[in-house]
Amino acid sequence: MAKVTNRKDYRPYPFEVEQCQLRFEIQARHVIVSSRLWFRQNPKYSGRYRPADCILDGTGLEILSIRLNDREQEEGQGYRYDGRKLELTGTAEMQNFYFCAKVRIDPYNNKSLEGMYRSGDILCTQNEATGFRNITFYPDRPDVMSRFTTEIIADQKQYPRLLSNGNLLEKKDLGDGRHSVRWEDPFPKPAYLYALVAGDLDLLSDHFITCSGREVTLHIYTDKGKTSQARFAMESLKKAMLWDEKLFGREYDLDLYMIVAVDSFNFGAMENKGLNIFNSSLVFATDETATDATYENIASVIAHEYFHNWTGNRITCRDWFQLTLKEGLTVYRDERFSEDHFGSEVCRIQQVSNLRNMQYPEDAGPNRHPIRPDSFIDINNFYTQTVYEKGAAVIRMMAFHLGSEGFRKGMDRYFERFDGQAVTCDDFVDAIQEGGGKDLSLLRRWYEQAGTPQLYADSKWDGTKFSLKLRQENPNAAAPSPHTEKTGTSASRESSRPIPPPLAFPIPLALYDHNGTKLHEETIMFSERETERHYTLNSQSKPVPSLLLDHISPVEVHYPYSDEELLLLISADQDSFNRYEAMQRYQQKLLLAMNPEQTTEPADNFVERLRSWLTAQCAAGGDAAMPPRYLAQLLQVPGVQILAAAQQPPQFQALHQVREAYCTKLAGHLEEDMLSCYHALAQTSYERSDLAIGKRSLRNTLLHYLSRLQHNRNNGGKYDELASQQYQTSDNMTDSYAALQALTHYSPGPHSQAAEGALAHFSRRWQGDFSVLCRWFALQAGTPKPQTLQKIQELENHPLFRQENPNMLRSLYSVLSRNLPIFHDKSGAAYQFLAQRILQIDRFNSMTAAGLAKAFVAYKQLDEEGQTAMAKALQLILQQDGISDRLYEITSKTLEQ
Ligand code: TRP
Ligand code: ZN
Repeated sequence: MAKVTNRKDYRPYPFEVEQCQLRFEIQARHVIVSSRLWFRQNPKYSGRYRPADCILDGTGLEILSIRLNDREQEEGQGYRYDGRKLELTGTAEMQNFYFCAKVRIDPYNNKSLEGMYRSGDILCTQNEATGFRNITFYPDRPDVMSRFTTEIIADQKQYPRLLSNGNLLEKKDLGDGRHSVRWEDPFPKPAYLYALVAGDLDLLSDHFITCSGREVTLHIYTDKGKTSQARFAMESLKKAMLWDEKLFGREYDLDLYMIVAVDSFNFGAMENKGLNIFNSSLVFATDETATDATYENIASVIAHEYFHNWTGNRITCRDWFQLTLKEGLTVYRDERFSEDHFGSEVCRIQQVSNLRNMQYPEDAGPNRHPIRPDSFIDINNFYTQTVYEKGAAVIRMMAFHLGSEGFRKGMDRYFERFDGQAVTCDDFVDAIQEGGGKDLSLLRRWYEQAGTPQLYADSKWDGTKFSLKLRQENPNAAAPSPHTEKTGTSASRESSRPIPPPLAFPIPLALYDHNGTKLHEETIMFSERETERHYTLNSQSKPVPSLLLDHISPVEVHYPYSDEELLLLISADQDSFNRYEAMQRYQQKLLLAMNPEQTTEPADNFVERLRSWLTAQCAAGGDAAMPPRYLAQLLQVPGVQILAAAQQPPQFQALHQVREAYCTKLAGHLEEDMLSCYHALAQTSYERSDLAIGKRSLRNTLLHYLSRLQHNRNNGGKYDELASQQYQTSDNMTDSYAALQALTHYSPGPHSQAAEGALAHFSRRWQGDFSVLCRWFALQAGTPKPQTLQKIQELENHPLFRQENPNMLRSLYSVLSRNLPIFHDKSGAAYQFLAQRILQIDRFNSMTAAGLAKAFVAYKQLDEEGQTAMAKALQLILQQDGISDRLYEITSKTLEQ
């Protein structure tokens, strides 16, 4: 039965672990793990509670021996073990004791990718959040921090590289074909940061001189022959190290920093102390294999894991409810890093677009939770958009409120006060408000409340005064709580929804006159006591408000803009985010007013505005005052996900059709301009400057618009030819991939010959490259055509598809679930299909299965027919015997929210 853990029930662990010595003997069929732990009573516990026996975590371990104070113990005598917990009898009375365990584990057949497992021929570990208990007995919770040493013994040929956290103390040849190493990590850490890697790896080596003049050795380990593809990752690492010194005064603390790339990995990467392990898709990049977006992802994840060394490792979480303490903060830091390296205006638009497309639906769905959750069945289900991205948005509000100097001082105080400790979100807010010198208590409620606050704004102008009325609502403030009974059938519980207390947040705004001149700018702060706010200003003309500049608070703003007002902001708004936002609003209004039978034209002055941007860009060869990358973002049409959020119940197919019709119309009006601009943006040689990246981005945006004209006009395959040509002549992945998408996504019927040819060519050319292949599968699973579901079933049997690899699984199934018109097919076939696959995956990798099960997030918003179909799929999962607790948690909440 699934057990619920509540945040309120936190108690310190009764013991401290002074030291943990581990020894791994890697054998042909299994690994023998010997551990020696020095325990002593924890004053934080014994000062408040009655003494308790020591209980250790340990999942499915084969015990070879257990010793207590150097004496061999017997099951039922000195200890009890139920397969999950090891209870040490009589330890409550001991001031301190010495514990030794010898267990046997089988990493070779571990497909869950938690604990110790095999990726190709590499042995590696993944211990966050609860993996360490699969390796040996240990108090596997983040507030138990210890000094770890590691000895590894293995076959010299098969495992020439033996790595663990910290510093290498010793290397020995054992003479019998085996060798051994000893590692020591001087920094106390929780078990989730422990790591071990053994394998035959190539090494890319470099170094970094820190601000205090220390030389740090940087090592990136890869599969044989791949180190040249890790150069960009290495450069990114050095940039991140420098940036953290400059912006936060944080220096790296060991003499060695290692990164290992593995193909089999459940998420993106892991910040193990001194030994990061990365999904290889976030390490390898060459111009032929990586798109511009991939490059930026790599840089930001490398930075993210590096930044964890201070926000996560030196200061860690007291308990897993505090996860956003390290994740929200570290995402905020990696976002700022990306803004400084790739341009804040384009980064910000991308961040908010991700928030809207991924986090808002989660926050309105059955698995919504505050950034600091109150309860869980499995913490692994809470590595979410909410904890990460919304968590970062909350920090962004704080930083805005304190100002950059104040925030820096606050962060300094946080590092000073809590270095070496496991702390809470409250501790964090305390420290930065004290250091920052400004009260933050008004923002604390963001840690408690789920849901995206909706800000309804309206205004009046009476000839002399402009008044603005702002009202906040949060219909999803309460999070559903977990069920513990495994039934798939209990009736849906209608939760009564009391009106939640208001949230405080800043609303920076600007007012423009009808010529587009800025009249005024200021920040209004909602207090945590008001749901409504009135604001008045003297004004001789009726101003147009630009609200929530830079989208500084994670809320949605509704304002009854007229088309004219939006057109004004589209041409005049000085806030680059809100200018984009005005484009989004204008188009969203238009699209939501359309239906497939009745599509309307965008207004002439709107089209002319776009034409003038294109003309300018064309004349300047892509180097106009408005950066081409920003123009590409302005030309983005709100996606189906965002449109669906504004429609009840959402009609995914109709929205997709309407959106396509609109894009086609726009392309029709602007065909000549788009085509000449497309040609003007061509580049003679490949470069990765901001401008070159921007030109590619805009050019590919235009190619996609034009490709939509392909089949609506008798222009003899003109644009298929254009895309084919781009595919054939491209010397980089950004352009080849965009061309391939253009060729495959827009024709109404089956793929054209050109499309089939390019698809086949692509898989042949890249059959040896794992990440690129995943993208080839993803491209086809993401094609918005009725044939897609069947195509996915064919692809599952493709010789290059790897059925047990999470990247591969996601490239078909996650991508399908985000291909909304296909996933929400009226027959329910895609729901049923996905449910079956989730059940299969749950048997060997429940983390990936539970992640995929979040695809059913829209359940309660669907129309009756859709709900019936989705309920069938959800029940299929819940009625299966023996599903994992984590899959149960996601699915039961979805069905019974
Ligand atoms: N802490 C990691 C990060 O944010 C992510 C992570 C958590 C993870 N659990 C994991 C990665 C399990 C892989 C597997 O960078
Ligand atoms: Zn992280």
